[in-house]
Amino acid sequence: MSAAPGKVKPVLLTGIRASGEIHLGNYLGAMKPAITRQGDFDSYFFVADYHGLTTCPPAAELQQNVRSIAAAWLACGLNPDKALLWKQSDVPEVIELSYLLACTTGMGLMERAHSYKDALAKSKSVKVGLFYYPLLMAADILLYQSDLVPVGKDQAQHLEMARDIATFFNETYGETFKLPQALILEATGVVPGIDGRKMSKSYDNGIEIFAPEAALKKRVMGIVTDSKGLQDPKNPEDCVVYQIYRLIASEDKAREMSERLAKGGYGYGDAKKEVLSILLDTFGPMRQKYQDLLRHPQDLDAVLQRGAVRTRDQAQQMLSRVRKLVGL
Ligand code: TRP
Repeated sequence: MSAAPGKVKPVLLTGIRASGEIHLGNYLGAMKPAITRQGDFDSYFFVADYHGLTTCPPAAELQQNVRSIAAAWLACGLNPDKALLWKQSDVPEVIELSYLLACTTGMGLMERAHSYKDALAKSKSVKVGLFYYPLLMAADILLYQSDLVPVGKDQAQHLEMARDIATFFNETYGETFKLPQALILEATGVVPGIDGRKMSKSYDNGIEIFAPEAALKKRVMGIVTDSKGLQDPKNPEDCVVYQIYRLIASEDKAREMSERLAKGGYGYGDAKKEVLSILLDTFGPMRQKYQDLLRHPQDLDAVLQRGAVRTRDQAQQMLSRVRKLVGL
């Protein structure tokens, strides 16, 4: 993978939409793989608040969500000296780029987006902002000439679209944008939610790793199971509790649970208690740090501001190049 002009390291970029709290799927799909590699790349991490607007939340709620996601990034180990962290709307150049990209992007591509088609199937009154979501996401990625984008499997199509959108533009105006690659960890690509469908904010089936303990417990105890009794042998592969456990537990621990389930005499309630306990163990120190960060919102805002200043400078350079190319 080649580095962007004048840069030594390839660019790694990912964003998390500001809507609700971070769940296990966000952590395993985007945050953990991104943070683990932050030193090996030129790392760009942001809180996607423009994307959070597609559901029109009350203004105060959006702001709360921005801080909550920023605190989660930092609590999970993002080092603002090594990586850029900013709030998407503090670099509004991305909106202008998304419009320039819209002008070379075919309707056919946009209409094939699963997110749009799902929304259309559910309701007749889909907002333009939701339809536009993949274009804005492509602009996020292309504005910084990203090489690698860690995302959950649910975002794979959006990444494909970003490549297509870049290609359309390059074909029209000449080679300008790099084609980004998705980084999808196969093992954790699809994290099941508590109802067994993929974990997603839109299904409200997440395990919010920073939720207060009582709320976390409630989510874990709410994981769906079949009606087998305590003594019955159970198939671990059909068991959502186990599927979630093995994403966090060591291989040995996961095997232990799988054997216990298969043998019988081990109930779903027991398995859920183990899930809760491993969540509290694994995320304990991060949960503590998250709470501390949220107690000082001004400090959090200052970190985002610093990140935005550095990011914006680069965004402006790239955008002015693109503006020239199209004749503005
Ligand atoms: N769509 C992503 C999500 O829902 C958030 C996002 C916005 C993003 N822009 C991005 C992810 C650019 C990666 C790259 O979680």
